[in-house]
Amino acid sequence: MKESKSRIWVTGASSGIGKSTAKEFARIGCDVIVSSRRHSVLEIINRELKDENLSVTVEPCNVASSSNVEAAAKKILENGRIDCLINNAGITSFKTAEENKIKEIKEIVEVNLLGAIYCIKSILPKMIEEKNGTIINVLSVAAEKVFTKSSAYAASKAGLLAYSNSLREEVRKYNIRIINILPGATSTTMWSNKILEEHGARMMNPDDIAHLLVSTFLQSKNIVTEEITVRPILGDL
Ligand SMILES: NC(=O)c1ccc[n+]([C@@H]2O[C@H](COP(=O)([O-])OP(=O)(O)OC[C@H]3O[C@@H](n4cnc5c(N)ncnc54)[C@H](OP(=O)(O)O)[C@@H]3O)[C@@H](O)[C@H]2O)c1
Repeated sequence: MKESKSRIWVTGASSGIGKSTAKEFARIGCDVIVSSRRHSVLEIINRELKDENLSVTVEPCNVASSSNVEAAAKKILENGRIDCLINNAGITSFKTAEENKIKEIKEIVEVNLLGAIYCIKSILPKMIEEKNGTIINVLSVAAEKVFTKSSAYAASKAGLLAYSNSLREEVRKYNIRIINILPGATSTTMWSNKILEEHGARMMNPDDIAHLLVSTFLQSKNIVTEEITVRPILGDL
């Protein structure tokens, strides 16, 4: 019997690491569903993949809204199970704790921590029912190493790291793998143009992170690589 294609849901797929990851999963023959807030920007992925005769399914979703996530997940699950959720949507502010407004702190926590948890909660019952699934969280080296101007960001990433480490122990018995990826500086629009001009050349390329996510997903289903930290060869900025 022919095995069905793996279905992969990538959040924050309109640019950077998420976009590269969505394309790479499409290239290895997966059914990829891409989400972010900007519908028109997500559609560009399909225009770029056209020459390779590939496409992805666009499902816009603001992960900071639990009702938005629930509605998107419902639509996605109507067409079958999700084999892999990639919690990649993320924002930061590069401000000190003193400079950060409460509103900015809330936004960072709502997107990076709660948003990922909403996505996990929306697909977990189906993964448990299927006794199959992989959840990959794109965290950051800032979840474990101290950087200034990153307090809210670090708290959100460390929060998701702790949540996921506990979740992993609960869902092992259902063959569900929880994988945390902690990348260092990667050349994406998360950084200002000034920083990209100064340091972009030594940063990692989002395509390299995408390859890492794909190869981690493809590992034997009876092992779970729990945590991977990956940095530019020259180290942190
Ligand atoms: N770049 C780095 O150096 C680096 C290092 C370590 C970890 N990371 C992590 O990697 C992930 C991807 O970041 P990136 O560097 O690729 O940055 P990016 O190019 O700015 O991508 C961020 C993505 O998140 C989406 N997003 C933001 N808010 C959202 C929301 N409320 N709901 C849904 N999607 C939302 C954005 O799309 P829309 O604007 O269309 O919603 C965009 O697709 C983040 O979690 C980041 O923390 C990045």
